[in-house]
Amino acid sequence: MSRIVTTFPLPDGAIELLRPFGLTGPDGWRGALTEAEALLCLLTDRVDAELLDRAPRLRIVANAVVGYEHVDRGACRARGIVVTNTPDVLTDATADLAMALILSAARGLPGAERSLRAGQFHGWGFWDYLGADLNGKTLGIFGMGRIGRAVARRAAPFGMRVIYHSRTRLSTHDEAALGAEWVDFDGLIARSEVLSLHAPLTPQTRHTIDADALRRMRPGSFLVNTARGALVDEAALVDALRDGPLAGAGLDVYEREPEIHPGLLHLPNVTLLPHIGSATRETRTRMAMLAARNVHAVLSGASPLNPVP
Ligand code: DGY
Repeated sequence: MSRIVTTFPLPDGAIELLRPFGLTGPDGWRGALTEAEALLCLLTDRVDAELLDRAPRLRIVANAVVGYEHVDRGACRARGIVVTNTPDVLTDATADLAMALILSAARGLPGAERSLRAGQFHGWGFWDYLGADLNGKTLGIFGMGRIGRAVARRAAPFGMRVIYHSRTRLSTHDEAALGAEWVDFDGLIARSEVLSLHAPLTPQTRHTIDADALRRMRPGSFLVNTARGALVDEAALVDALRDGPLAGAGLDVYEREPEIHPGLLHLPNVTLLPHIGSATRETRTRMAMLAARNVHAVLSGASPLNPVP
């Protein structure tokens, strides 16, 4: 009998840790839910009341990513099921990718590469392929959690000035250490030359960057999103990239993944990545291991390591 089911293949270390409890892998997890006490899952697995009803013995939903908007936490709470996630271990990889997108947007990499591949590079040209400097520019960070702070730390050596808006304001000490200035949301929108999103998706943050916010952004500014697609109204973003004020964008996440707004696909001034923020071998292994350790703790009668509220 399997006390644990996983919707995705686990690394060897996690299998070793969990095998003694009985483990059913991705091929049979749905069938094994009725007996399962632990579910390891991903952001592509909707964990709702209907699924939970098929798993009456479940004690923990170990979500092997950091975001948990796909898990009905109310339904879990009502059934006494603990929900966990994997913070910290993916902070650096995701912040690295945000920096890559900031650089890509500012230097117009997708347009330059597309032009070269189309045979339009006929030799070095003084006024060709001009992007924007990062040095001296203002980076706005929406959501100053772990990843937002890691992006702020990376931006400083590039000479960027950092402003931020977040549900919770940092302490004066942390603001000074990061060289980050707190601003209200309107200030963030009005002053950011590069705006990078790092907030979780909640009913309150959905479409924070809507047509109105986009209209108020600086002419020639850039938007980068490595958080969740639905923070942005994608149709409005297409308009802002096509008609201004935005000069470019870097996106790793989309409003209706895996669908991409068709307008985005044709724009040369957007880098489009397939949700790979945490996709390094080391980081994904750490995420799976942390989810497995949460399961191990709960099934061994200890407290979960990373419970989410
Ligand atoms: C997460 O963890 O929520 C990411 O989107 C995948 O790394």
